Order: sequence, then C-alpha cells, then structure tokens
Amino acid sequence: MITIERAMVVEVTAICRNHVRMRLAAPRLAKAARPGQFVNVRCAPMPMGARTFEGWDDCARALCAKHPTQTLLMRPFAVHRAWTKGARKGQVEVLFKIIGQGTRALASMKRGQSVELMGPLGRGFDLDECRRLSTAVLVAGGVGVAPLFQLAEFLRREHVHTLLLVGAMSEKDIPLDVADSRMTLPYMETKPEATITAKEFRDLGCEVGIVLMAGARGYAGVPTELLDRFLHRTEGGARGAACVFTCGPWGMMRAVAKHAEEHGVACRALLEERMGCGIGACVACSIRVKSAGGVIRRRVCIEGPVFDAGEVIWDEA
Ligand code: FES
Repeated sequence: MITIERAMVVEVTAICRNHVRMRLAAPRLAKAARPGQFVNVRCAPMPMGARTFEGWDDCARALCAKHPTQTLLMRPFAVHRAWTKGARKGQVEVLFKIIGQGTRALASMKRGQSVELMGPLGRGFDLDECRRLSTAVLVAGGVGVAPLFQLAEFLRREHVHTLLLVGAMSEKDIPLDVADSRMTLPYMETKPEATITAKEFRDLGCEVGIVLMAGARGYAGVPTELLDRFLHRTEGGARGAACVFTCGPWGMMRAVAKHAEEHGVACRALLEERMGCGIGACVACSIRVKSAGGVIRRRVCIEGPVFDAGEVIWDEA
C-alpha cells in the first residue's frame, strides 16, 4: 500500500565524486518496500510544523512556494536498502547521483531534518520467479546498482548463486563502498592484486566484478564483455535456471538484453525513466513494448519499473 510519510534524515554520506547515500527513518516504507520498488521524495526539508497530517498540506504548500524547482515534482529514487530488524529497524537507504537542483538539495540535507516520502511505488521484481532460479547475474551501470541490492539480499536468502557486474567510468565514479580484494573472477583475466570489490555485495556472498572504462584496478572494459564470458562459460546446462537482471543507462541495458537473448537466458530490465507523478496519472514515463496485439505503451511507474527485456522496444531512445 502506498503511504505518505515524514522521514527523518539519519545519515548522509558521499560515496564517490557524484554519488551520495542517504539513510532515513521511515518505518512504514521500510516494512513495505519490496526489491525493485521505488520511492518519491520531495527534495527539500519539511518545515518543523508538519508533525501531524492535519498540518501537512499547509506545510507542503509553503515548501513548494519557497523552493518551486526542487519541490514541484517529487523525485523518484530506487530503494537501495530497507531494514526490518536490528539496530537500523525502520530505516531505508537511497543511493543517488547528483544530477540537478533536486538531488543537490537532497544531498545537502543534515541529520535531524525531515523530508516527505511517498511509496513504495512500482511493481518491483517477480519474487516467485526469483525463487525458482539457480543462477542470477545482476548487471548495473553506475547508479543503476541502487535497486539491485535488495534483490541480491533476497536471492542470497533463497540460495541463488548471484554474480554482480558493476560498470563505472573510473574508480572515482563507483557508486558503492569498495575494498581491495584478492579474489578475482576466473573469466576476468586481471591480476588478483589489481582487483577491487563492492563490500556490501561481497558481504552478502555475491561474486562481484567491478568493470571500469578507465583505471588501473578492476576489469577494464564494459560489463557486457564479462556477462558474455560468464554466459558462454556456463552454457550447456551448468548454470541451471538462470536470469539476468539489469539496471543502468539505456544503451547498456539494450546491449545486456541482446547478449542475454543470444545466449537464450531470460532478462529483466529495471527502467529509470523521467517521471512526473510516479502513480500513473501523467503518462510522462511511458515506453513502447511489444504485446500480442502489436506495439503498446506502458507506464514505467506503475506497470514497471521492471520489464521483460525481450518486450521492450530498445531502439526508441
Ligand atoms: Fe506519471 Fe508515470 S510518472 S504516469
């Protein structure tokens, strides 16, 4: 169920040159968010007066009048992590790239300030399908890794062998905490001492390959090269029921979809379109997909954001 929630900022951390992680106390969202869903955030601090829903409308109106460009439209963010137990119970984390006024304003918020959230939104991944897999390959481009952590957590709980490939421009652009790793993937062909890993995914038990377009460490190239090698290496039944999950730039997802199709492996793409409302009303996020009746339009915010990559008309963008 979609709820509107006032969430307190718990921590804001710069991870690399352009990426920030923000942890928020949002108990209703933390309980309800499923892998692949997203949340709309109003990118300015809520005035202190809005402690109850009775005062909410007035505060939201005042906020929009004061910061129109940041707040007229809420911004969609993938739910990167959500905690339902432990010391962080009731908290969620979003991981985002600073690309404009809204995200810059959000990144400058301080612990103790509050923001307005609406979510969880979208349909997320098909978890029944995920449960039936024996191998999952997650392919992320840049901040496209954000929605894949909750999925990786779920897959590891279900004992699905999970490989994550993350592409970034350089070491300074990896949107994750990284650590040195002597472990290297057999098909990476890099020296072990030149390898780095994404800590939080490795700690889950995922195999991780960091792919950099420029830089001395990690694999040099693009993620689809490693994907191709992995799928080629496991061809012929060794991989069992496999699926590729991808999120990132449109061109990368198009290439991932093509490689998966060539290897006869299912592929699910989590699309990140520009959005207006996030709830199916404005049609700003529609894309073209194939259906039995021909080409139709689908709204990413409510009919996605996860689509069968084989149905998406990739040549559109
Ligand atoms: Fe308005 Fe999808 S963002 S319909």
